[in-house]
Amino acid sequence: MTNIILCGGNGTRLWPLSRTLMPKQFVKLFEEESLFQKTVIRNEKVCDSQFIVSNAEQYFLAVDQLEELTHNSTSNTRHSTQYLLEPVGRNTAPAIALACLALDPEETLLVTPSDHLIKDEKAYLEAVEKAKYLAEKDNLVTFGITPQYPETGFGYIEAIASVIVESDSDSGMDVIHFHEKPDQQTAQQYINKNQEDQSLSQSTITKFFWNSGMFCFKAGIFLEELEKYAPEIYTASLKAFQNAKQEAVIRIHHEEMMNIPSESIDYAVMEKSDRVKVVPADIDWSDLGSFDALYEELPKDENSNSSLVLSDSKKEHKANDQLPITNHATGNLIISEKQVAVVDVDDLIIIDTADALLISKKGSSQKVKEVVKTLKERN
Ligand code: GDD
Ligand code: MG
Repeated sequence: MTNIILCGGNGTRLWPLSRTLMPKQFVKLFEEESLFQKTVIRNEKVCDSQFIVSNAEQYFLAVDQLEELTHNSTSNTRHSTQYLLEPVGRNTAPAIALACLALDPEETLLVTPSDHLIKDEKAYLEAVEKAKYLAEKDNLVTFGITPQYPETGFGYIEAIASVIVESDSDSGMDVIHFHEKPDQQTAQQYINKNQEDQSLSQSTITKFFWNSGMFCFKAGIFLEELEKYAPEIYTASLKAFQNAKQEAVIRIHHEEMMNIPSESIDYAVMEKSDRVKVVPADIDWSDLGSFDALYEELPKDENSNSSLVLSDSKKEHKANDQLPITNHATGNLIISEKQVAVVDVDDLIIIDTADALLISKKGSSQKVKEVVKTLKERN
């Protein structure tokens, strides 16, 4: 199985921590390794090669971080790595299509983002084994997370619960509908439905999951479904791939890339295909999609303050000698490159980098992407 690692988003919700040149997957947020490195290590346990689809600007970051892993590793056998570089991102459907075109149609792929946190690795690896089994039977497999609140930034998977009860351990659940990013009211209805149905007989009810954004399928099956449901993306991706510069790394030409419609796999294929299965995945997952989500995952002091000290240039952890001073302050998230002190303030997000400072109320961090929009309009 090949791990397709998606490394192309620009992480606008984590501005100014995550920038085009240093997106969050390469920042060392937790311990010694970046999220990208953690992704590689985790998936090497179930995959025998990796295929990195990255923005061309981030190529050297990825290479450096992989080399660092090799250098630190006790074993000197690393899996084979291929790169496909996009001059500009056109969202996940083209990124995945280009990778599939480069691989054997019979190859089973584990498609993963490079910027998510998965804390229960054992449960994750078990879920991946189930997904692989289903993918080998020509399904498009998703990983379903039990929803905690009506998040509108996620896809929702509606599945038949009876299959869970009757299934052997290799089965997933049949997906009835895949709903990408519903509005608040609809998301709330899904959550309510999960709660109501718990009292009913298990045999008929449906269950809603969050889509984790990871997928497992054969390259050829994905391309078949893409051609069926999003033929413009398929045709333009095929042309871009055929005209790409194929040397040690595959480089797609700018003009060809721009000709591919920009759409996510979720809208282009998963909402439409009838080959979708879900493997429930209780894996302690977070997509760290906002500073609020990041705050939840970072360690806290006795006053519930979380902090990270970044080094000036490489955005890596520094020792704790520069930790913020928090006097009569609770529940703050402080990420900084210099010494920070806060007095008498609660529930703030303070992100201080070399050239930009963000101060936001906790709970409002989904609005950070609007700042990036304003900045782009100004330039
Ligand atoms: N190579 C490449 N090129 N990667 C990309 C591109 C691109 O153009 N666009 C996005 N990615 C990468 C991102 O870096 C991220 O790791 C992953 O693909 C998903 O893209 P996001 O932009 O973060 O998607 P999302 O968060 O809005 O929604 C997806 O993930 C949710 C879970 O986090 C969907 O799959 C949802 O259904 C899902 O719930
Ligand atoms: Mg995301």
